Order: sequence, then C-alpha cells, then structure tokens
Amino acid sequence: MRDQIAAGNWKMNTTISEGVALAKGLVDNGKTTADKMIVCVPFTHLAKISDVLSSQLTVFLAAQNLASEASGAYTGEVSAAMLKEAGVQYVLVGHSERRTLYAEDASILRKKIALAQDAGLKVIFCLGEPLEVREAGTQNAVVQQQLEDGIYHLSAEDVSKLIIAYEPIWAIGTGKTASPEQAQDMHAYIRSSLETKYGSQIANAMSILYGGSVKPANSKEIFSQPDVDGGLVGGASLKLDSFVAIANSF
Ligand code: PGA
Repeated sequence: MRDQIAAGNWKMNTTISEGVALAKGLVDNGKTTADKMIVCVPFTHLAKISDVLSSQLTVFLAAQNLASEASGAYTGEVSAAMLKEAGVQYVLVGHSERRTLYAEDASILRKKIALAQDAGLKVIFCLGEPLEVREAGTQNAVVQQQLEDGIYHLSAEDVSKLIIAYEPIWAIGTGKTASPEQAQDMHAYIRSSLETKYGSQIANAMSILYGGSVKPANSKEIFSQPDVDGGLVGGASLKLDSFVAIANSF
C-alpha cells in the first residue's frame, strides 16, 4: 500500500551529459521492482533531464535544494517556481549536508517546505542523528525533536504529502550502514511518532526511506524491513548498474 521508492541523490557529481546518459539508462532499463525511482540531480541538469523523463512513469525528477524565499534579490538561489517550471516533481529538504555545511536550521527548513508545497512540489524531508548521539543512545529523542521542529506544524493534509528519509549521519558516505534492525527500529519509531501526532491512517500511508551507504549488497535486507519503504542512495546511485540493482531489491 505504501510506495516503495529508490531515490538517487547525485549530490555535486556528474556533468550534464553524464547525468543525461544516466537518466536515459534508467528509462531504457524500464520498470524495476520499485514502485518508482527518483533522481535528485544538480540544478544545471534539471531541464535537460526533465526532457529525458517526460512521457514515462518510472523515473521521477527531484531537485536537491530550493531557496527559502519565493523570489527577489537572492543571488545564486533557485526558487520553487523555477524548479516547478523546469519539470521538477520532488525536492530534498533537510539533508544533513545542508543542515551542517550550510547551517540550515529548522526555521529555514519550514520555509522551504512551505514554498515547495505551495508550488506543488513533493518534499522528501531528511533527518537523522550524528554519531555522538547514536553512541549516547539518545537517537530517538533527537529524531523526535527534528520531526517536531521540521514538520509537526503542518496540517495532516500537508504532512501526508511528504516522503521521510531517515539518514543517520554516521552512515552517510562512510561505508558504515545501519544494520537492518537499527533501520527498522528507527523507522518504526518515526512511524509511531507520526501516528501519535496525525493518526494511524496517515502514518501507515507515508513512505519512510533509509539513507546511508545503501548499496546492492545491503539493499535487499534493509528494504525487507517492514517499516522501510526504500532508500535514498548517494554514491551507489551514480552507476547505472548499481542503482538498478538497488531499485530491484524490493
Ligand atoms: P550515501 O549518501 O549513500 O553515499 O551514504 C546518502 C545520502 O546522503 O543521501
């Protein structure tokens, strides 16, 4: 009943031509066992890849970021309306690299979510704890706070449009993956928190993705956990074969 999703976060990798080739490869590969694939690509690639992805319903287009203002004198920023016109359907908000390297705090994330949703973009809201929190065993409390600060001001209708991506920071780009049990425990915790706040119907319908060193060797086991509805994949999404293998892990 929930969408099973393989999302690839290319980060600041690939040239436009490499990105177009990768997107074409995914389209040509056809349907996988995932309900949908999403590619989160650099701004410069969006319009061209949107053309590649038009008139098919297997691979969807996401931006990795958007401006926290609607328009105006914000040099270097890209607005929700610009993304929408470029053919974007999804946008990442709250990725740990944005939170830590670009000091995006909860008030910025809330503005971005509002602007994205107003423009008709679907938000993939990312959250997750750093290593010291995991070592102290307080990850549930930290993730709960991220939910409260980031999305619990939203109406039930708006929250139900989100995809959540749980990405423990200690597992991102480190080769260190959460065990299937650690992923399941946190996903179940997030779903129970959503249920407490918004009720079981909404909580049970929302896709919660796992991110952090997902690769073909571990995707099947992680995705088979009952509360894991797919993955947000960085490094392993840059190679056609490995991303297709991950998208066929459901
Ligand atoms: P990784 O990145 O798969 O390279 O660990 C995941 C992410 O940051 O979305």
